[in-house]
Amino acid sequence: MDENQKKKLLMEALEARAMAYTPYSHYTVGAALLTAEGEIYRGGNIENASYGATNCAERTAVFKAVSEGRRDFLAIAIAGGMEGQEPADYAYPCGICRQVLREFAGKDFRVLVVRSISDYREYTLEELLPHGFGGESIQ
Ligand code: THU
Repeated sequence: MDENQKKKLLMEALEARAMAYTPYSHYTVGAALLTAEGEIYRGGNIENASYGATNCAERTAVFKAVSEGRRDFLAIAIAGGMEGQEPADYAYPCGICRQVLREFAGKDFRVLVVRSISDYREYTLEELLPHGFGGESIQ
């Protein structure tokens, strides 16, 4: 991922919040997933009246991409905050999303948590999900 791709990814995550469906929590999350081919898939959180049926922004982006035949990913950027407001803090992915990312993330996969285009933190997935469970464990 070069600097231009990174800036674009941060911007797309911030923009993706606009498509979140959040009538219950009013907390909107945007995710932007960069493929090895250089494409970006966006996702927003999609809530449900049966709360447990809610889908996080990160998984929306991953499932969109995988269902279109993409499986190699370089990075994901994530931005979250209350509806109509700029992110007040970094939005870290929940445990389920970390596990879903683990399924497709290579060694160099990066997670960027974004407050603004100039304020973000960058992690490897290994830092966020050490000793994770993966397909190699059940060969
Ligand atoms: N949410 C995400 O979209 N991603 C996460 O990693 C954590 C939580 C959403 C789910 C729900 O719509 C709202 O944030 C509040 O939990």
